[in-house]
Amino acid sequence: MKIYIETLGCQMNRLDSELLVGLVTAAGHEIVSHRRGADAVLYNTCSVRRHAEDKVYSRLGVDAKRKAVRPLLVGVLGCMAQREGKDLARRYPAVDLLCGPGQLHELPALLEKARTGRRAVALDPDRKTPPDARDLEAMESLDLSRDPARTPSRSGAFVRVMRGCDRFCTYCIVPFVRGPEHSRPPEHIEREVKKLLDAGRSEITLLGQTVNRYRHETGGKTTRFADLLARLSLLPGLRRLRFVTSHPVDFGRDLLEAMRDLPNVCPYIHAPAQSGSDAVLKRMNRGYTRGQYDDLLASAREIVPDATLVGDFITGFPGETDADHAASVDLIGQAGYKNAFIFKYSPRPGTPAEKRFEDDVPEALKRRRNMELLAAQKTAGRAHHQQYVGRVLEVLITGKSAREQKKDRRKESPDPQTGLVQLQGRSRGDHIVLMEGPDSLIDTYAQARITAASDLSLFGEIGRE
Ligand code: 5AD
Ligand code: SF4
Repeated sequence: MKIYIETLGCQMNRLDSELLVGLVTAAGHEIVSHRRGADAVLYNTCSVRRHAEDKVYSRLGVDAKRKAVRPLLVGVLGCMAQREGKDLARRYPAVDLLCGPGQLHELPALLEKARTGRRAVALDPDRKTPPDARDLEAMESLDLSRDPARTPSRSGAFVRVMRGCDRFCTYCIVPFVRGPEHSRPPEHIEREVKKLLDAGRSEITLLGQTVNRYRHETGGKTTRFADLLARLSLLPGLRRLRFVTSHPVDFGRDLLEAMRDLPNVCPYIHAPAQSGSDAVLKRMNRGYTRGQYDDLLASAREIVPDATLVGDFITGFPGETDADHAASVDLIGQAGYKNAFIFKYSPRPGTPAEKRFEDDVPEALKRRRNMELLAAQKTAGRAHHQQYVGRVLEVLITGKSAREQKKDRRKESPDPQTGLVQLQGRSRGDHIVLMEGPDSLIDTYAQARITAASDLSLFGEIGRE
């Protein structure tokens, strides 16, 4: 079959889709880059906010019409399939296939079943019945079967270190759809990273919903996250090691010291605050106070002075007052984030916040607060990036810039005088760096002298490595 996969949501979903491409291709299917002409469309979905789900509902509406005129197999994979289960298929009869995030290894078999006209469903068991050894082995098979040549980038790759989440922040659907926390065996992770390095990848990003809670025990031996980093950092060819997303509570000094002492671990910390107010943090069940979060930022600055910080904020959480909001604006002003992801609160059915609290911040006020946080971060981001002007940074050149890609789509040729294009790359601190150069430099490292800064990126000139 010709299969089109559309991926929504987080990096974990991007990784899952990449692994699925390998899996279905090995089963004899072909992946196509456009839905037109596809025999099957599969949505790898996200349930974190309503907006992401609405997008899929609207696609399903269009697919239902398409199905009326030609055969088409429609599948919903991942978090939304798990959250809505069979209700989704009942309400959207166009859906032929449902697959939970822990069942993706079943996809080839599900496709075969759906192809014969039967509805194919594989959902994860309830959180209360944790996966047994056989389930875990089946889930592992997806990651272990990975073809390292298939990573979308030739220089970098994602590697999952854990699944699920046990933290239960009150607003969050993840613990319900991605199931209980489970850390992968360190030897499996190491084998996967080695395979990617042998295939020429040099930047590895470790993924987990709460990646720094990683902890694996076998035969009386415990591997904590800092131990895992130390073990992986020894692998030859690993030039950059990153990890996302961290929970502030589990960001201990040992981890900051690992970041300081292991030369290939990048100085990059994505540890969402979600709010600057103690009262809101408490209702969110985040497990820390503003003071404790401030202490983490202070330790980070002390131990890894060049670390880049990135935050997430939710605005308009139930009961958020003007003073609570002002505390978030203040935190953004203090933290010196490189960037922050700012979201309006979206009540998710079945979460503790949705059951316990009324969504009482009016939409117009949520929007205004959202804009105020964005404005505060714009100022903070500009100041953050400005510090780098005049410095030389190591940049991994990842591709052409968005501006250059637009030119390509309009079929404009590179500057006829110089043959140079605008390239985009990432510093070790994950800054976006834009610079002129030949496209032969894509997927290589360069030293760039930073000449200017905006609120979201740096501009540089390439020197020799
Ligand atoms: N509403 C808005 N934002 C949310 N996030 C998680 N759940 C919700 C929700 N119900 C945000 C958090 C998290 C990021 C991945 O998404 O900021 O860090
Ligand atoms: Fe959701 Fe909180 Fe778990 Fe992150 S730590 S996935 S926000 S429950």
